[in-house]
Amino acid sequence: MCWRQNRKKSCRFRPRRGPERKFVTDEIIPPRNVRHVAIIMDGNGRWATRRGLPRLVGHRKGAERVREIVDICPDIGVKYLTLYAFSTENWKRAEAEVAGLMSLFRRYILREAKRLHENRVRVRFIGDRARLDQKLIALMAQLEEKTAKNEHLNLTIALNYGGRDELTRAVRVLAEDTASGRVAPEDITEESLGFYLDTRYLPDPDLIIRTSGEQRVSNFLLWQSAYAEYEFTPTLWPDFTARAFADVVLGASTRERRFGSAAG
Ligand code: FPP
Repeated sequence: MCWRQNRKKSCRFRPRRGPERKFVTDEIIPPRNVRHVAIIMDGNGRWATRRGLPRLVGHRKGAERVREIVDICPDIGVKYLTLYAFSTENWKRAEAEVAGLMSLFRRYILREAKRLHENRVRVRFIGDRARLDQKLIALMAQLEEKTAKNEHLNLTIALNYGGRDELTRAVRVLAEDTASGRVAPEDITEESLGFYLDTRYLPDPDLIIRTSGEQRVSNFLLWQSAYAEYEFTPTLWPDFTARAFADVVLGASTRERRFGSAAG
């Protein structure tokens, strides 16, 4: 299956590189039904360990993949990209790894902010910021503000995020609103509950990808994934190229999604 009009050479998508690179051209017909892709970026540690390198080298390599995959999204019709960068459970890792990851997130924002803005990417963060350090929180807020008017791609980075934690925080606020009379219990619906979640501005994900061969959900977008398609790939995140990503998105675009209705 291929969305290229010119099928002479290959059916696989080849990302264009270099300054001449444009977004959607008539060379590519992007699928229209996979608009929100969420990714559990797993396997950085194994990638590094297999090469005899410190785990943080794998995370750094992983950050390079983030750049490449963000770049390709508009070309293949992906309007929302959500990345699981640090879970509420990841604090259990060695102190040095956690510190290294936090420093990597700060450096990513400092290094990529200009480029993301020039590419008209709107960046937002989900998760509980309370446990993050003040410098990182400030950088996150600045990036959100700087890119707030961008519409080419919506990039959401989940930092200190957990689906259960998100639901717990949402229910706490909802309980306060109910107790104070702002919300009547009978007005609580799936839709109104959705507004209490970190993801209130996002459509539900169409596709959730997990790299590295693990086949678990790991507390990611528990509420939002009710009807998402899943794709588990054995490739470790630092090896997951934009081309591999485009192929997975294309593959998913051909799946029949019934949202609970009978087969046609
Ligand atoms: C899981 O792999 C990965 C993480 C906990 C960190 C994800 C972070 C990045 C990809 C770096 C940059 C991200 C951004 C948004 C700039 P793992 O360490 O659990 O791998 P393993 O299962 O092989 O040990």
